[in-house]
Amino acid sequence: MSSLGTPPVDLALEASDDDGSVPLVRTGIPGPRSAELWERDSRLHAHNSSPAAQHLRLVIDEARGAVVRDVDGNAFIDLSSGAVVANLGHCPPPVVAALQQEARRLLHFFDYATPARPAFFEALAATLPASLQTFQMYSTGSEAVEAAIRLAKSFTKRYEVISFHSAWHGRTLASMSMMGGFRLKHGYGPFAPGALHSVNAYCYRCPLGLEREGCEVACARFVDQVYEQSGEQELAAVIIEPIQGVGGVIPHPPEFLAHLRRFCDRTGALLVFDEILTGVGRTGPMWAFEHSGVVPDVLLAGKGLASGYPISVIAARREVMDTAPFGLPGAGASTFASGNLACAAAAATLEALADGRILDHGRRLGELMLSELRAMQHRHPVIGDVRGQGMLMALELVSDRRTKARISPETSRRLLLALARRGVLTSGVGPILRITPPLVLSKTLAVKALALLDDALGEVEAGEAGR
Ligand SMILES: Cc1ncc(COP(=O)(O)O)c(C=O)c1O
Repeated sequence: MSSLGTPPVDLALEASDDDGSVPLVRTGIPGPRSAELWERDSRLHAHNSSPAAQHLRLVIDEARGAVVRDVDGNAFIDLSSGAVVANLGHCPPPVVAALQQEARRLLHFFDYATPARPAFFEALAATLPASLQTFQMYSTGSEAVEAAIRLAKSFTKRYEVISFHSAWHGRTLASMSMMGGFRLKHGYGPFAPGALHSVNAYCYRCPLGLEREGCEVACARFVDQVYEQSGEQELAAVIIEPIQGVGGVIPHPPEFLAHLRRFCDRTGALLVFDEILTGVGRTGPMWAFEHSGVVPDVLLAGKGLASGYPISVIAARREVMDTAPFGLPGAGASTFASGNLACAAAAATLEALADGRILDHGRRLGELMLSELRAMQHRHPVIGDVRGQGMLMALELVSDRRTKARISPETSRRLLLALARRGVLTSGVGPILRITPPLVLSKTLAVKALALLDDALGEVEAGEAGR
């Protein structure tokens, strides 16, 4: 247990962050300096930032390990990793050093190779099977999803793509076409032709109305019906998050993924795993597909891959990547794709993960936190379901356990604020409370944060009862 008490290597918290002084909230939320800067910023910024950012109106000053500080000097325990990005903690020293060193020599020279690129690709290749050893880089997750769709069309010469209810693949038009039924999507149609949707393995609210016992993962086989009903039989790809992240931390069981593998082998479609959120150790192993042993034809990574520097990558086999038009000269280039800074930051991130100690710490701390969250469920009727794997966890919050009615947006905002007032930051606002701490969170801070969550849930429940 020693590595749980003291975060592995020297990546995580400075001693002062783990010595009892964190969390520390000495102003209201937001504090006066945050309120003033927020006001200046919001005069000029579009009013469409994330709901949590808009609701808390904190202005962030700096972050280290799993501790985030605002401009009023408040120190929060981070259970979000930002946008699930700071897997190694905030500002991991080897990544900051690699960026500083690289930036002194070169900031950008289009998509020419630099020494940092083969170093990054070799480190990435060492984490992946032989069929995923050819790479193309981009800057955002959405771009990687777009590229995967182009890649699948290019290789198969077909155009349909099956994705899943509650999926989250990004905010560009084609990636949004693959998204489940999020409100954010409404008003942007018509979406990409050929975007087909199948049901996910949402056992808490089974889309097929079945019980897990004896269901034989019928949701997986629904994909065959979607295919047959389309009539076109022009399927280029099936894209799936092995564990849905933004959609509610909904794991797809190994049998589900194995069925998709067989289905793709039969139809000739490419199986694309979007591991932009689940990759880089978030769920325990380096990649979430390792839980099932099902290997996709295309793997997408982003978010934590360069510890906060923008990056995304698609991995496939050489013959898939090099087929025209995707493989034509210039087809993969874009202004900021494959930049040397992104490569240097990603290589340093992978090097820090290579000996497995941080992954091991995250996996074991995740198990511990999940069992504490399950214990909390007995105390708090508002917790309808607890799900998670590694450091990707969620509580599904309900106003009535029997009917599974979701809590109101107002209740979820109250919870977010109750947590921040106690010095804990989580991501998202809504009936799903996502808990995605940096993998290097110490056990001391994890225990503190969960006790504060327990307390905040109690406050919100008491408030509901008094209404
Ligand atoms: C699974 C998944 N795919 C794609 C994306 C889109 O990534 P980005 O926001 O970097 O465009 C996200 C973002 O949350 C994601 O979770």
